[in-house]
Amino acid sequence: MGYPHKSHPRETPVLSKHFGDPEARTLEGWKSRGGYKALQQALSMDPVAIQNVVKESGLRGRGGAGFPTGLKWSFMKLGDGKPHYLCCNADESEPGTFKDREIMRWTPHALIEGCAIGAYAIGAETAYIYVRGEFTEPIKRLEDALVEARKAGIIGPNAMGSGKKIDVWVHRGAGAYICGEETALMNSLEGKRGNPRIKPPFPAVSGLFGMPTTINNVETLAAVPHILNNGAEWYKAMCLSSPKSTGSKLFSVCGNVAKPGNYEVVMGFPFKEFLYDLCGGPPPGRKFKAIIPGGSSVPVITIEEAESVKMDYEGFLEVGTMLGSGGVIIFDDAQSMPRQLARLARFYAHESCAQCTQCREGTAWMTKILERIVDGHGTFEDLDTIFELSENMTGKTICVLSDSCGAPVTSGINRFRGEFEALIKGKRSSTVAVGA
Ligand SMILES: Cc1cc2nc3c(=O)[nH]c(=O)nc-3n(C[C@H](O)[C@H](O)[C@H](O)COP(=O)(O)O)c2cc1C
Ligand code: SF4
Repeated sequence: MGYPHKSHPRETPVLSKHFGDPEARTLEGWKSRGGYKALQQALSMDPVAIQNVVKESGLRGRGGAGFPTGLKWSFMKLGDGKPHYLCCNADESEPGTFKDREIMRWTPHALIEGCAIGAYAIGAETAYIYVRGEFTEPIKRLEDALVEARKAGIIGPNAMGSGKKIDVWVHRGAGAYICGEETALMNSLEGKRGNPRIKPPFPAVSGLFGMPTTINNVETLAAVPHILNNGAEWYKAMCLSSPKSTGSKLFSVCGNVAKPGNYEVVMGFPFKEFLYDLCGGPPPGRKFKAIIPGGSSVPVITIEEAESVKMDYEGFLEVGTMLGSGGVIIFDDAQSMPRQLARLARFYAHESCAQCTQCREGTAWMTKILERIVDGHGTFEDLDTIFELSENMTGKTICVLSDSCGAPVTSGINRFRGEFEALIKGKRSSTVAVGA
């Protein structure tokens, strides 16, 4: 299908309202659509008051963990005499996730505005947008928009005539998934190898260049101008289920589905209707079988479980998975789950930074064992070994990449054990080879 698609009547386009509209990319176009009013307002407010509006809105981080954004901002000690930094995480390398890319491609000024407000609210004069290296078009759009914003005095030494200095810079990554982990991102920005750091100290105490730093996802920051323009109550009212999950959310949909793409819905939207109505159901002649709803790092669920879910942080937790980044990966009944999960494990083994033994060895062994099973040489003991490995890989390492390898694999075995056992018993699957 063409992309971006025309908004479905049941979507709530807030962040995606101008996707597909090239005029919205320009400063003039953005301003005529209400752009930079929120920044102007923010610069006349006390930073703590901005933090409070964001707290009140219930906005939670869209990068994966769902941490409350206003609360995260309040960890920054204002007036401590140190340089503060805002990092915008635009690394977006989680398989199945491509929403930040579209925000940057179509509405770069929305992100710049969100970054400038966020920076001011945490006492920072500098914000860095760390962009996935392969995102050549979004980088160009951002750089063009930054030139315009600087030239117009929206950012710079006297942002919007406020007398306050706020600058925003783009930094291009080099294609490593691990550089999306917040402390690896900071190391990479500093010109070091992108290895995650041991926490504590947390970034709000010692982050970029050892200074207090806040890191937020693209979608999180792009939501902030809308919250300031429309008020915390407006944002909070966008909620169809749990009051702990508010606002609209972009879900990237890929895999075996009739209409892949990004869809923006209010938190708590029924997943069944999302899958069959907005996304058009499975490809002709197929049935949905399994779903990874929050990017590849979260547990797999069956279609039956998925159909009962309300799409918010709590709703996905109820069926044993997570909302994560909102990357919905769909498998139909023609797919072999062992093959798919072996492929995912290989991705994590490849992307491990190798600092922690449990992760370096665990992801590699998990891949080897899964590929052995797929090739018809597995044993029943292999399944037990995978669970043992996963236990040793979870909660014991510097970052959660290690956990992220175990979660889809063990949940997949628990839900689709019959497929693994069939391969072990010698019934080979007919679909394409691992890694193909
Ligand atoms: C291996 C790994 C990769 C990650 N990749 C990303 C990413 O590409 N984008 C992102 O926003 N967060 C990513 N995160 C989460 C970040 O560490 C961090 O929690 C997030 O940027 C915080 O922003 P938020 O509070 O707005 O969600 C990743 C985490 C891990 C462990
Ligand atoms: S868990 Fe894996 S990716 Fe994360 S720091 Fe340890 S070795 Fe590196």
